[in-house]
Amino acid sequence: MSLNIPLITRRHTRRLGQALAEVLSPGDLVVLEGDLGAGKTFLVRAIARAMGVPTEIAVTSPTFELVHELPGKVPIVHVDLYRLQSPEMLIELGLNERIGADAVVLVEWGERFSLELGDEGLWVYLLFDSNGDRLAKLVPRKARGERIFCHIVARMDRTG
Ligand SMILES: Nc1ncnc2c1ncn2[C@@H]1O[C@H](COP(=O)(O)OP(=O)(O)OP(=O)(O)O)[C@@H](O)[C@H]1O
Ligand SMILES: [Mg+2]
Repeated sequence: MSLNIPLITRRHTRRLGQALAEVLSPGDLVVLEGDLGAGKTFLVRAIARAMGVPTEIAVTSPTFELVHELPGKVPIVHVDLYRLQSPEMLIELGLNERIGADAVVLVEWGERFSLELGDEGLWVYLLFDSNGDRLAKLVPRKARGERIFCHIVARMDRTG
């Protein structure tokens, strides 16, 4: 099961972020993977703004800190695991106390650690096609992933 969504302009990516923000609820996990510079952080920013994170708060990649906490209408945890060496170090970040619990957890470069992250949620692959256009490939994992996925599918049916 998967869905490809063209993201020709930044506006398309923002709209996907808004659609995700409508459905994401505490405990949900979104893993963002894909080509360098394809827009993982951009999409996280769109989700965060649509979930009420004020514009005074910068939404940037937590490249060195690894984790940023963002105050949305529900707590948002923004993670970048590009530099993470081992699953043991992942435990120290405390994500397992947030996933399936109080926060919406958005993880860039999380696929290497899928199992440690609980393997449940929406996996989003941000890619460039052969023309250099961006697209998102959405793949749900388990019940929480399917709930998010079905919302996006229904939303895309309605808005084209
Ligand atoms: N359709 C689009 N969707 C998203 N970003 C776009 C789009 N078109 C152009 N951009 C630009 O592409 C860049 C994407 O950068 P971003 O940091 O979000 O990528 P990333 O996937 O997080 O990178 P990294 O691989 O370093 O983590 C931004 O500068 C953004 O303005
Ligand atoms: Mg990034």
